[in-house]
Amino acid sequence: MQRPLDHRRVVVTGATGYLGRALCAALERRGVPAVALVRRESIDRVPAQTPYSVADVLNPLDVAARLQPGDTVVHLVGTPHPAPWKAAAFRRLDLPAALAVLEAARLRHAAHFIYVSVAQPAPVMRAYVAVRREVEEAIHASGIPATVLRPWYVLGPGHRWAALLRPLYALAERWPSSHATAQRLGLVSLDEMLTALVTAVVHPTPSTRVWDVPAIRAIHRTAQPLEHVPHVTPDDPARTLLRSPRGPRARTASTRR
Ligand SMILES: NC(=O)c1ccc[n+]([C@@H]2O[C@H](COP(=O)([O-])OP(=O)(O)OC[C@H]3O[C@@H](n4cnc5c(N)ncnc54)[C@H](OP(=O)(O)O)[C@@H]3O)[C@@H](O)[C@H]2O)c1
Repeated sequence: MQRPLDHRRVVVTGATGYLGRALCAALERRGVPAVALVRRESIDRVPAQTPYSVADVLNPLDVAARLQPGDTVVHLVGTPHPAPWKAAAFRRLDLPAALAVLEAARLRHAAHFIYVSVAQPAPVMRAYVAVRREVEEAIHASGIPATVLRPWYVLGPGHRWAALLRPLYALAERWPSSHATAQRLGLVSLDEMLTALVTAVVHPTPSTRVWDVPAIRAIHRTAQPLEHVPHVTPDDPARTLLRSPRGPRARTASTRR
């Protein structure tokens, strides 16, 4: 059954995907209330511990009806397995869904919009990058406090093929002419990505900030146990210190009502 949405929560679109499922679990472990916004046919893929609400992410009013003032909205909807030949799908889903959820966040006075974009500029995947660039521009124009993360490829369970490219990355990082590109388009681990996403949630910004691959890595590198997290300047990722507490949090009550 759907759960009525609480105040001051994190609302996650794309919560049934690779990053979304892992993020919901990570937020749960930290005691941050998260709600998945999903389409009806995907209810079964919502992480077991996460309450959900059904909405059409292409319809701003439908999404807005599920949001409350002060929500943090994490937008993770995207075409599965992005590839250069999926340009039409990026325009049919990724762009309008991001704009619709952003508009819903604006209408409902969300406190913070978190968007996983992509590393840019990039020499490949131009249609994919272009759509994310357009979304970033809309985020800037909206005036909603926002964190934009720009990974290139997130290594993790079921997402390993790019690890084969590591020797090429190592080589490219050694050459002054390709060093910056190799860093910008570098691979990040799922752990690094989750640390950055949870950090964005726990330490919102009053403006707009963009975290590229080096920033995502820096946030994870400087992470400390959650209980040691000091008050930090929200716009300085290198000083944003966070790490998951050891072991899963004991669950005291069912989160699905
Ligand atoms: N993973 C990476 O390495 C990486 C790197 C850079 C950027 N990104 C971006 O980060 C975001 C999340 O990535 P991911 O790897 O977690 O993607 P993913 O595993 O493919 O998950 C995509 C999510 O979008 C949802 N979705 C797809 N079509 C939908 C529709 N028509 N209506 C509602 N929901 C729909 C899926 O829900 P269903 O279960 O309902 O299909 C799923 O929850 C994506 O925008 C991706 O492009 C990812």
